[in-house]
Amino acid sequence: MCGIVAYTGSNEAYPILIKGLKRLEYRGYDSAGVALSQGNKIGLYKCRGRVADLDLFCSDKDIKACAGIAHTRWATHGEPNTQNAHPHLSEDGKIALIHNGIVENYLVLKKELMSRGYKFQSNTDTEVLVHLIQDIFVKEQVPLEEAVRIALGGVVGTYALAILSADNPGQIILAKKGSPLLIGIGDNEYYVGSDGAPIVEYTKKVVYLEDGDVAVVAPQKKLVIRNINDNAKKRPYWQKLEMNLEQLEKDGFEHYMLKEIFEQPKAIRDSMRGRLNVQKDVVSLGGIIEYETKMMNARRFIIVACGTSYHAGLVAEYLFENIARIPVEVEYASEFRYRNPLIYEDDVIIAISQSGETADTIAAVELAKRKGATVIGICNVVGSTLARATNAGSYTHAGPEIGVASTKAFTAQVTVLTLMALSIARKKGTLALSEYHQIIGCLEDIPEKVNEILQLDDIIKDISTHFVNKRNAIYLGRGVNYPVALEGALKLKEISYIHAEGYPSAEMKHGPIALIDEEMPVIVLATEQETYEKTVSNIQEVIARKGRIISIVTKGDTLVKEMSNYCIEIPATTELLTPLISCIPLQLLAYHVAVLRGCNVDKPRNLAKSVSVE
Ligand code: F6R
Repeated sequence: MCGIVAYTGSNEAYPILIKGLKRLEYRGYDSAGVALSQGNKIGLYKCRGRVADLDLFCSDKDIKACAGIAHTRWATHGEPNTQNAHPHLSEDGKIALIHNGIVENYLVLKKELMSRGYKFQSNTDTEVLVHLIQDIFVKEQVPLEEAVRIALGGVVGTYALAILSADNPGQIILAKKGSPLLIGIGDNEYYVGSDGAPIVEYTKKVVYLEDGDVAVVAPQKKLVIRNINDNAKKRPYWQKLEMNLEQLEKDGFEHYMLKEIFEQPKAIRDSMRGRLNVQKDVVSLGGIIEYETKMMNARRFIIVACGTSYHAGLVAEYLFENIARIPVEVEYASEFRYRNPLIYEDDVIIAISQSGETADTIAAVELAKRKGATVIGICNVVGSTLARATNAGSYTHAGPEIGVASTKAFTAQVTVLTLMALSIARKKGTLALSEYHQIIGCLEDIPEKVNEILQLDDIIKDISTHFVNKRNAIYLGRGVNYPVALEGALKLKEISYIHAEGYPSAEMKHGPIALIDEEMPVIVLATEQETYEKTVSNIQEVIARKGRIISIVTKGDTLVKEMSNYCIEIPATTELLTPLISCIPLQLLAYHVAVLRGCNVDKPRNLAKSVSVE
């Protein structure tokens, strides 16, 4: 949800900023802009469209500078055009500002500033910040960082800010509340990013700013961090950035999404690494050890998440209830936070998020903490807001996920949730040792089975040609395959723009069956399951209405295969682990359909990877 990059030092800033923006483009790609510190002036270049458009636009401009701030936008307030692109300038052209987040009270602030004669150039909420800061700076005659601090005291909402001033070339002021921002230190120089991607190439020594921090960076000077509320100085806490540059490359794949789909055997293995001790019959998730007793004795688990992470939560409901016998509720974080939910001190909240920055999920966590519940996080991005906001948690270790559509993060989340359920079940005594061994054995085989399914890529690509002109699709699944049906539909709609819905197979006859005709592709998850026979009946119901069946079946199945127009066979596994493999053909199917339709699979329209606004 908007990406921020900044640099100050003795190197040329522009190439660093543009490269950084390219690496952050997954956070939004409606417009891009850069403000450069050029002598006692600010050079401002921005345009609608992608970072590549900005780079082209700048190709004949004077872009020499040793400091600058840059932004790639996911539009919230104001349509995606050049006028609304960041950076925004103060009226005297001396202050440039970029923002990730939302100023909730911007209308009140805007009205007040307009009544004092300020003229606005854009329809964004962000522009109020730059005028407000300038107003205080001029009136109060304080240093700019102090004006920023005072201004933010009156701002309601979330922000990660980077501010450049013509009067102080080379100095960049940063502030954070609710949106991520980290600072990397190089050789008398500073790199800033919404995450580590624009920084990792240059340094691994970083400070993650915390909510309420205002920081000032300038070459050859020490980083200064103060608190917005009481102006108290804070000692920077330097950490090692856990990221490799190679992980950010496409590695010969046409798209990040395809690369990430194919990385799943490794991602699943990495998410299990060091956590399974087969000889000793234990699963140990270091991050939650201290809280396992609390988890074992929990009144219930409430899982909060959004999108694909929510679907992983739905899979976890089956896992925890089946093997650990703990009641589970799975909630969209955005609904949970606003419905005044009953939360008890002996509840355990599990928040799942790939990015660890999803605003609604973070807000749900804060709410649960205020009510005294224990909060466990499962997230992929090391050092993210979620990782720091929870009592304890486990990283998924899937590596950076850059394609906007989540793939390997989902399977890694389900793997970690499986380990969590196994660990708690063994300690609670709700899972017999023999069953435990059986599940562990199957879990260890999952990466190889995923690999086997990836070999079907060409067959799936072939099947996808029959989707290209479809306008709708229905995904059906029962039990653990129901969340997979939801996930399959989400993948298809978000990257190919074909309308798709997932349903529990048996729910179809309560309404959606009215949609079935010879034009409707129905993707059915019909793997070996307790409810297999019921699924067969549901397929018959679709065929009777001339629907086209694309089935995912267990290798060796003949019954459903014969009934299907197209069939994808996947290896057998134990029922509870099925989602880890049954989701793979659906990811590939969505990918190939989207490519055939000419869609930008890595950057689907209107989306952003990290949804750090409500
Ligand atoms: C779908 C997708 C989104 C995210 C959702 C939550 O492919 O990527 O639905 O799953 O925005 O994001 P995280 O997991 O970062 O909280």
